[in-house]
Amino acid sequence: METVILGTGNSQEMRIAIDQAVDQLERGSIVGLPTETVYGLAADALNADACATIFEAKERPSFDPLIVHVSGEKMLNNVAEIPDEIADVTYDLIKEFWPGALTFILPKKDIVPDIVTSGLQTVAVRRSKNKIFSEIVNSLESPIAAPSANRFGSISPTSAAAVFTELSGKIPLIIDGGACSEGVESTIIKIEPSQKKKPLIKILRPGPITPEMLKKFGKIDKHQHSSEESSSLTSPGQLDSHYAPNTPLKILNSPEEFDCDPSKKYALLSYRGQKKDGYLELCDWTHVETLSPGSGKLPEAAVRFFFSLRKLDELGVDEIISEPIPERGIGFAIMDRLKRASYQFS
Ligand code: TXA
Ligand code: MG
Repeated sequence: METVILGTGNSQEMRIAIDQAVDQLERGSIVGLPTETVYGLAADALNADACATIFEAKERPSFDPLIVHVSGEKMLNNVAEIPDEIADVTYDLIKEFWPGALTFILPKKDIVPDIVTSGLQTVAVRRSKNKIFSEIVNSLESPIAAPSANRFGSISPTSAAAVFTELSGKIPLIIDGGACSEGVESTIIKIEPSQKKKPLIKILRPGPITPEMLKKFGKIDKHQHSSEESSSLTSPGQLDSHYAPNTPLKILNSPEEFDCDPSKKYALLSYRGQKKDGYLELCDWTHVETLSPGSGKLPEAAVRFFFSLRKLDELGVDEIISEPIPERGIGFAIMDRLKRASYQFS
């Protein structure tokens, strides 16, 4: 299959791209679409056969459920139940963070095919704030199931070119909406009612909506599940090894941990590219990729993270070495991805 990339550089191109994407989705096909977090591989969420094609193209195991993207509260109510005990906090969070990178786990309605939720009685729902994505879900008038548009377990795509690298030949169309503005996947939460005043907000996957931003709405449980714990009880697709490059990746806790083997080629993933942090002169790096040059800004580091990891993976070095990222704000989500990306090499 030939994979076409359509640009959206001017209003005419944008119109054509949106129309073609809607047309493909209506016909039960799958399309690579930009969102503010990462690129998604989209299908009509109410079309079970189309959703099955997502699993095939990504080589994704059937136990890993998809996120359903809605155009607003009306569509949300078509796919999910909002239990009375958590209605107030759920609507408060929607008011604050939608459209945006916050995904809710809620009881599903029968209209959602079982394949979308991997047979679970709950569904993951979010509303994207990307303009192109929003127009497409509005015109389709049906919710869109979209996991990240990468092969299962591999690095998430934050550009149309990265989607092409991952899935060319397997999907007919990619809409190029430029680089993603957030750079890491949405925060996934599950709200549990509590006898106490504040409900419990369990963070199943950290993301752009940080614990600091959520804490005024409830008691936060960061819920870092251990590998022994059954992951089917938490977020089924959150495997210890994920987002992995082909090149071995090691995260350092401090510069002293690194022993440079002069016969090997190394690349460095640096947080802010500053000598005083102690990593730049540890070795004769083949390449240094800096996430946030200068003073170090975590949102900027998040935007560049998957893009940088992909670039380092393409250099053909023996090992990628990463500086640690401060685990505050969105840094918590970046470190979560880094740890999973290095898991199989540790
Ligand atoms: O930002 C994002 O969320 C991106 C964009 C494209 O929207 N999507 C994304 O999808 O990251 P994906 O498939 O790569 O990750 C979705 C994860 C699953 O791996 C699973 O852990 C969790 O969402 N999930 C989906 N349905 C769930 C459910 N019913 N209960 C618990 N976790 C669920
Ligand atoms: Mg993913």
